[in-house]
Amino acid sequence: MFGTRPIPLQCLAVALTLHLAVIAGEFFKPFNVSYDHRALIIDGNRRMLISAGIHYPRATPEMWPDLVAKSKEGGADVIETYAFWNGHEPVKGQYNFEGRYDIVKFVKLVGSSGLYLHLRIGPYVCAEWNFGGFPVWLRDVPGIEFRTENAPFKNEMQRFVKKIVDLMREEMLFSWQGGPIILLQIENEYGDVEGSYGEKGKEYVKWAAKMATGLGAGVPWVMCKQVDAPEYILDACNGYYCDGFRPNSYKKPVLWTENWDGWYTQWGGRLPHRPVEDLAFAVARFFQRGGSFQNYYMFFGGTNFGRTSGGPNQLTSYDYDAPLDEYGLLRQPKWGHLKDLHAAIKLCEPALVAVDSPQYIKLGPMQEAHVYGKNIHRKGETFTWSGNKSRCSAFLANIDEHNEASVTFFGEVYTLPPWSVSILPDCKNTVYNTAKVGAQTSIKTTELSLPLSTNVSVLQQLPSQDEVSPLSENWVTVKEPIGAWGDDNFTVQGILQHLNVTKDISDYLWYMTRVYVYDDDISFWEENSVEPALTIDSMRDLVHIFINGKLIGSVFGHWVKVDQPLQLMQGYNDIVLLSETIGLQNFGAFLEKDGAGFKGQIKLTGFRNGDINLTDSLWTYQVGLKGEFLKIYNVAENETAGWTDLTLDAIPSSFSWYKTYFDAPVGMDPVALDFRSMGKGQAWVNGHHIGRYWTLVAPKDGCQSSCNYRGAYHSDKCTTNCGKPTQIWYHVPRSWLQSTNNLLVIFEETGGNPFEISIKPYSTHIICGQVSESHYPPLRMWFHPNFVKGKISASDMIPEIHFHCDDGHKISSIEFASYGTPKGSCQKFSKGNCHAPNSLSVVSQACEGRNRCSVRISNAVFGGDPCHGTVKTLAVEARCVPSSNIGFSAQKQ
Ligand SMILES: *[C@@H]1O[C@H](CO)[C@@H](O)[C@H](O)[C@H]1NC(C)=O
Ligand SMILES: *[C@@H]1O[C@H](CO)[C@@H](O)[C@H](O)[C@H]1NC(C)=O
Ligand SMILES: *[C@@H]1O[C@H](CO)[C@@H](O)[C@H](O)[C@H]1NC(C)=O
Ligand SMILES: *[C@@H]1O[C@H](CO)[C@@H](O)[C@H](O)[C@H]1NC(C)=O
Ligand SMILES: *[C@@H]1O[C@H](CO)[C@@H](O)[C@H](O)[C@H]1NC(C)=O
Ligand SMILES: *[C@@H]1O[C@H](CO)[C@@H](O)[C@H](O)[C@H]1NC(C)=O
Ligand SMILES: *[C@@H]1O[C@H](CO)[C@@H](O)[C@H](O)[C@H]1NC(C)=O
Repeated sequence: MFGTRPIPLQCLAVALTLHLAVIAGEFFKPFNVSYDHRALIIDGNRRMLISAGIHYPRATPEMWPDLVAKSKEGGADVIETYAFWNGHEPVKGQYNFEGRYDIVKFVKLVGSSGLYLHLRIGPYVCAEWNFGGFPVWLRDVPGIEFRTENAPFKNEMQRFVKKIVDLMREEMLFSWQGGPIILLQIENEYGDVEGSYGEKGKEYVKWAAKMATGLGAGVPWVMCKQVDAPEYILDACNGYYCDGFRPNSYKKPVLWTENWDGWYTQWGGRLPHRPVEDLAFAVARFFQRGGSFQNYYMFFGGTNFGRTSGGPNQLTSYDYDAPLDEYGLLRQPKWGHLKDLHAAIKLCEPALVAVDSPQYIKLGPMQEAHVYGKNIHRKGETFTWSGNKSRCSAFLANIDEHNEASVTFFGEVYTLPPWSVSILPDCKNTVYNTAKVGAQTSIKTTELSLPLSTNVSVLQQLPSQDEVSPLSENWVTVKEPIGAWGDDNFTVQGILQHLNVTKDISDYLWYMTRVYVYDDDISFWEENSVEPALTIDSMRDLVHIFINGKLIGSVFGHWVKVDQPLQLMQGYNDIVLLSETIGLQNFGAFLEKDGAGFKGQIKLTGFRNGDINLTDSLWTYQVGLKGEFLKIYNVAENETAGWTDLTLDAIPSSFSWYKTYFDAPVGMDPVALDFRSMGKGQAWVNGHHIGRYWTLVAPKDGCQSSCNYRGAYHSDKCTTNCGKPTQIWYHVPRSWLQSTNNLLVIFEETGGNPFEISIKPYSTHIICGQVSESHYPPLRMWFHPNFVKGKISASDMIPEIHFHCDDGHKISSIEFASYGTPKGSCQKFSKGNCHAPNSLSVVSQACEGRNRCSVRISNAVFGGDPCHGTVKTLAVEARCVPSSNIGFSAQKQ
């Protein structure tokens, strides 16, 4: 079933259905996985594999089928995920494999979709995930040191890894059992920290490798970024580019476990974008230079629901600028351009797997070809090739980031744009160039502007405000007490470490003490015009400081010194510190020692007789918020919480809970809450914790007005959102909503206006495309059996433009269409000197009222040549609306 020839989607679906009917409960005919220096060998065949990273807990199980289907449609063969220990074992010995943590269901879904799975157990996963995936109870195991030669750690790690491997085997999910799992991973990027552990680190690597392979999983294990991975473990590359990567043994294939196709963001950060032309270049270069397995980290990033985001200060959104956006919709043109790339690579697969290494041909100072094929002959500087067409494929690269190049290859001339790779599956015809995007662009309902994901300038157009209406006009509120609120408060001498007390069951820990201030000190401050101050040697992530019940200051940072001026009165003064975590540290050595909260001494400075040392004072502690522990966000009404009606004059108010009921927007589109009127806090919908929110603003400067894909990418290269809150939209999965009467509960720390919270269905509302008549023929034609026989007609090879609204949506109107020499870019198109007068009617006829459509780019379609001798382009802007709205919106024209 999985031969080396690509199989059209429909055939695969039929084959799979038949197959499932034959062997119930198995996804594939059992097969073995091995490897040689060229590739993974799946059921006896070398394979070139495209993998899509999706982390199951960053979506809901209801979203998984669509995400996997869109990955497959985009050309993925494999789904890659971590296993999330702290989600699966929140309390030592108590496992959770339910809901978003139903890993068995996820793996089975991947299998039933006909895809393979790479399961990266870790169990350290980093992943911008809370504590890098470690359960917080692990810190309390006596004598433990993480990720090193340490018996207590090794025992716990082995127990969890074995638990997962055993579970997968019991469920028959390994390839040799007919399941989808072809690869596993132990540890994760340990090479980055190994040096910190000296000899013990090296011993630990050997132990981890041996332990993993001893579990009898029967498929190969990977260690990524691990140059000293043992002979029997694959070492793999993570990065923006991995074409230069070579494993530590000639017997191992070249694997790329994390191709960073975007980047993550922290609260107060800019939004990074990786242009798809550069991403496609990196992937093409990888396969060009001998790579055989490439995974997008992430293909779908999703959402850090609840308190799962890592630290320091990882955002709730884990969108990652991935080909599937946070809500699971296609990000275009990223998804479409990669889909075309994958199809081109698949066309080359027979040639790529047929030889042990490519033939290298220098084409120019910064231009080179790699040719996969037999019967390539060299005569001096000239190469000729004679042989089976489907057994020769070539990649032509121009790594010059400034200039286009013309190169001669097997006697033909090829033009290569700067920083691009052309793919020639038959060593003759270019079917794809990484810098020439034919896929549509799309703009979503919540986007203020076109994202910088490609070579277009940022538009400053706001979405029309008429679509925004307040979520609710009826809110109730209750104040959160400042300081101790429950019988479990306790008093001890000294400063306890935040995590030692909270065990991370809450972000919040109250520290309370009391100091006596004498008249002498008051007069000392008055006479000298000085103020006392509270100092903390070192603090993470955030502290709110209250004196006598009043908030006087807040400090946010990562192990920063706190020096807060304050005013005290004669007599007793209550000092209350609210220490907060915003995601526990997820990377670096010695995570178990990192902790949170305060380090060093806490003092009051500026007193007549010197500083007052509070480090050894009596402190009273209270974990968490009263509302959190009463679970006042749950659906069950709790009148005892003391809710009162909220009036406009009572806001904005800090340390308050707010509650309302709302109706879900009609339809099945994903839904987003707009929290731009709020400050910082957490929110729950129908008892589901949708995550932390914060309107912390990104720096004013450092964003780019346009993004040049050429040249090496780094995460600061193409950023947007300067001077705006990093995140204002928060995903509420549809499956958490009912049509009416949804409960929203918010805890707000710093003050905000809930009356301005709004909700919006999230969908693609504008799509654009621009393809010239000199673009490549439709990729599917190269797969056509008649093509191989040389029986494809010229008209079948005419380039096409494709449009696609989200599922359940249709094209309501064509806002712009011009076949000729149109100018500008999406949302800014205008006609050029050459324009076919029927452009709009041709495109409208082909597309209006449809979910998908395509238009051929040729004179015949547009009633003749509007300007002879000029290369024509078709540019189109269309509007998508939910299918049910079509009648209403069509009147607009
Ligand atoms: C996989 O390999 C094992 C061990 O070599 C062998 O016993 C088994 O038959 C193979 N299974 C398949 C499906 O090839
Ligand atoms: C060329 O290679 C293809 C793919 O491996 C094969 O199916 C075909 O029979 C070969 N043709 C010739 C003439 O060898
Ligand atoms: C990309 O941007 C550059 C510089 O702004 C411009 O010269 C070039 O024409 C653009 N390319 C495309 C394909 O829009
Ligand atoms: C703090 O705990 C003590 C008992 O340990 C209790 O008497 C007191 O009422 C608690 N304080 C608050 C504010 O609940
Ligand atoms: C916190 O707990 C760890 C053990 O989990 C202990 O080693 C450490 O000393 C404690 N730190 C403080 C400040 O209490
Ligand atoms: C404050 O108290 C701590 C704990 O007893 C002690 O280690 C530290 O030296 C004291 N600081 C000063 C400035 O006396
Ligand atoms: C309601 O609040 C009371 C205390 O105010 C608490 O004991 C009880 O558990 C709460 N009930 C629910 C269902 O949350």
